[in-house]
Amino acid sequence: MKDTIHNKPTSIIIFGGTGDLAKTKLFPALLDLYVAGQLPERFGIVGLSRKELSDEEYQQFVFESIGAKGHNHDESEAKAFCSRIRYVAGSFDEPEAYERVKTTLKQVDNEIGQCTNKLFYLAVPPQYYEVIFEQLHASDALALCNGVDSWARLLVEKPFGRDLTTAQALEKKLCSLFKDEQIYRIDHYLAKDAIENIIALRFVNTVLADSWDASAIESIHIKLLETKDVSNRGSFYDTIGTLRDVGQNHMLQIFALLTMPPADIHDPQAIRVARAEALRQLIKHTPLSVTRGQYEGYADTHGVTDGSETETYFKLSFGVDEGVWQGTTFTLEAGKALNEHVNEAVITFKPRNLCSCAAESGPHEHRNVLRIKFAPEQHICLSMWTKAPGFVFTLHEQELTLVSTSSEESASPEAYERVLFDCITGDQTRFVSGAEVELAWQFITPILEQFNKLPLHTYAPGSKGPEEIINT
Ligand code: BG6
Repeated sequence: MKDTIHNKPTSIIIFGGTGDLAKTKLFPALLDLYVAGQLPERFGIVGLSRKELSDEEYQQFVFESIGAKGHNHDESEAKAFCSRIRYVAGSFDEPEAYERVKTTLKQVDNEIGQCTNKLFYLAVPPQYYEVIFEQLHASDALALCNGVDSWARLLVEKPFGRDLTTAQALEKKLCSLFKDEQIYRIDHYLAKDAIENIIALRFVNTVLADSWDASAIESIHIKLLETKDVSNRGSFYDTIGTLRDVGQNHMLQIFALLTMPPADIHDPQAIRVARAEALRQLIKHTPLSVTRGQYEGYADTHGVTDGSETETYFKLSFGVDEGVWQGTTFTLEAGKALNEHVNEAVITFKPRNLCSCAAESGPHEHRNVLRIKFAPEQHICLSMWTKAPGFVFTLHEQELTLVSTSSEESASPEAYERVLFDCITGDQTRFVSGAEVELAWQFITPILEQFNKLPLHTYAPGSKGPEEIINT
C-alpha cells in the first residue's frame, strides 16, 4: 500500500552529501518539496561526505548551493529547511562512519520523538556502490528501530554497473543484502512528466493505439542531443562515455515506453513488467549501423586522460527480429557539445499505398510524422497532409499540435522531486527493475565491445555532430 507523504516522519541520508548531484539536484528538489508541503511534516536530512565540516558549515554549504541554483524561495523558508540538516564526515569504506551516521539518526529520531523511516540516497560515483551496500548492511543501519512500523529504502543512481557482468554481480550483491521492495534504482527520465506522457498518448488514444506497431510505423528515432559539454565531469565521464551515460538507461527506457505491449496504466507492477518485455525483444535484433564520435577539445577537459578514446556522441540503428516491431527501424542518437538541445522521439509512419496526389508529383512519399519532444520544451505534434487551397489538387503538410509547454511554464514537478516523493510514498513505478537493468546491458554490452574497433570521428563543438554520420 502507498504511504501518504505526511503520515510518516522520515530521515533522508545522502551519501555524497557535498557532491555535484546533491548540490545541483537533490537539495533544490528537497527544498521545493518542503515549500510545497510535499515532504513529511517531521523529517531530518543527514549528509555524509569526506570533508570535515560542522553541521553549521554544512547547512551554510546547502544554503549557498540552493541560492546558486537561482531558487527564489523566501530566505526564511530556505533557512528553516537547512536547520533540519545534519552532517557526518567519513569515507564510505570506514565502518566507524556508519556508526556515526547511526548515532546522528538516533538523535534525529529523539528530536522528532518517534522512529523515522530511513531513506538512504547513494549520490556517489558507481565504484562506491558495492562498499556502501556492504557497510550499510554490516552496520545494520537499515534495521534501526527494528520492530517499529517504519521502512528503510535505498535509492541507487545510474549507471548500475559498467556492462552485463558487472551489473549482474552488483544486482546479486544488492539482492543478497536487501529486499527488492527496499531497492529504488533511479532513472530520472522515468520521473519526467513528458516521458510518462508516452503511456497516456499510446494507450488512451484509439487513433494511435490501433496503429502502433511495425505494420504502421516505419521508423522511430530517439534523440538526446545536448549543447552542454562534459564541463567539470571529466573524470566521471571519461570512464563512462555517452552510450553508458544515457544510452543504456534513459534512451532505452524511452524505447521501452514506446514499444512495450499494452498494460494496465494504473498498475505499477504491470508497467514495469511491460517495460521489461519491451527490452526483452532486443535479445533478438539486427544491428544496422553503429557510429561514434568525440568533440574536438574533449581530451583537454580536466580529468580526461590524454588521448582518450571515450565517445561523446553515438548513433546506432537496429531492427528487432521477432514480434510486432519486426520491420521498424530504430535509431538512438545522443551527443554532447552539439549545435542544439533536442530531446525527442520522432515516429515516422509508413506512407499509404494508394496515392491520391497528382500523377506528376512522382512517387507517393506523404508520411505522417509524430514528434514527441521532451526537452527543452514539451511539444507533441503530428504532421498531417491536407489539400492546399486552390483549383489544383495539391497536398501540403500541416502540423497538429497536441501539447506545447516551455519548461518555465510547466507545472510538472522536477524529475528529482518526483524521485524523492515516489520513494517516500513507496511507489516503484518510475524506478527500474533488476530485470530491466540486466536486459538493457544485454543489448548494450556487445555494442560497447564493438566500439573499440570502430573509428572515432571528431566533430567541432557547436556542430551537428561528426560530418561522416549526421546524414546517415
Ligand atoms: C544524466 C547524464 O543522467 O542525464 C548527463 O549523466 C545528461 O550526462 C543528463 O546530461 C540529461 O538529463 P536531463 O534531465 O538534463 O535531460
